[in-house]
Amino acid sequence: ATLRIADVEFEKPLQENEEKISYAGSQLWKVVLETNSKKKVIAKLRDTRDLSMWGGNLTAIDVLVKAKSKGLVKNQLDLNGIQYEIIIDDLQKAIDDENPPVDEDEDEGLENRQGHRMTWQAYHRLDDVHSYLDYLEQTYPALCSSQVIGSSVHGRPLKLLKISNGKPGNKAIWVDGGMHAREWISPATVTYIINHLVLNIDSEPNELQNIDWYFLPIANPDGYEYSHTTDRLWRKNRARSGQCAGTDLNRNFGYKWGGKGSGRNPCQEIYAGTGPFSEPETAAIRTFITSTKAKWRAYVSFHSYGQYILYPWGYDRVVTPDYKELQTVAQKASNAIRASGGPAYTFGPAGSTLYPASGGSDDWAKGTVGMKYAYTIELRDSGRYGFVLPATYIKPTATEAWQALRVIAQAAAA
Ligand code: ARG
Ligand code: ZN
Repeated sequence: ATLRIADVEFEKPLQENEEKISYAGSQLWKVVLETNSKKKVIAKLRDTRDLSMWGGNLTAIDVLVKAKSKGLVKNQLDLNGIQYEIIIDDLQKAIDDENPPVDEDEDEGLENRQGHRMTWQAYHRLDDVHSYLDYLEQTYPALCSSQVIGSSVHGRPLKLLKISNGKPGNKAIWVDGGMHAREWISPATVTYIINHLVLNIDSEPNELQNIDWYFLPIANPDGYEYSHTTDRLWRKNRARSGQCAGTDLNRNFGYKWGGKGSGRNPCQEIYAGTGPFSEPETAAIRTFITSTKAKWRAYVSFHSYGQYILYPWGYDRVVTPDYKELQTVAQKASNAIRASGGPAYTFGPAGSTLYPASGGSDDWAKGTVGMKYAYTIELRDSGRYGFVLPATYIKPTATEAWQALRVIAQAAAA
């Protein structure tokens, strides 16, 4: 096998040398919370680390209950008349079933018949994704170019793919994925979209051909790898800060940094970092976007889960002056998903539709950079598997995500 430069450059600094965390006996519960007093019970159990929040909506939330805390949590819920339902009985089993090994055809060698390793039938490691971007650049040099825009805390490259027909007047759109490590469906979706766009760009309408597309499939490479090697449910990057590791990159952007829905304590899942853009991953995105001479019109960040199309503001329950235009496009995107046979995606301003969370990339893209159509799309599902979405869902999820992205890109091109 050929030794790629990437293997040499990034061999040493990466090992975190921790054993893989088992979630044997841990469960996913859906908990009904109609009152504030009930919400407080959950908040307490969260503080004592007996459970952690996954997602949910205003009335019911999904929580991960640790194996050893099941009895205690059940008691607390029963005592306070809180209804719940067990959604995943054994989280480790769900994790083991999520990502079947890719059956590689022996005769075809390491690289499969397409000349790359991506299958969209399994979740792939960082190296497969990055090699795929290199493959595209080599195979479609007139259309694709890749660029390393910076590196992560542990020195992994932040690798971007630009797709462009090179026309001077093109408007530009940014798409990223994998900002949160455990949301594996996001990089899978972004790479699927890249593949689809490269192979079918000639049959897209002119306005989509005349766009400069910038894709960063894995914005948090350290976290992503860590979620494969050590902790499947890791969310943040891997910056060291005292007792705990990790900054939430989607709380680290410099618009209304440190406000509602972000944390000061490094041990929190929503830790905002020591200051705006304190992390190399977010700083690289800022530097690239603000220093590239592109006609930025749209910003789209793919996350999971919950099936939402969200737009600014996210820092609070307030809207932008042009929110009606953002809402119209979100509505169209949601309709396009439905029309393609996909499920319902809820749309609205992030802060009031989901929850306020400041320091998000979407708010920065809109508020600081002025990218008009800024969206965060929360992909599938709506709480059956949550983050541990089986790989069989990659293709349907990515297909509908492309329908939504097309609508946003069309608005951006207009
Ligand atoms: N689930 C995403 C997060 O928690 C939602 C972000 C939406 N955008 C925002 N600026 N609040 O990061
Ligand atoms: Zn996320």
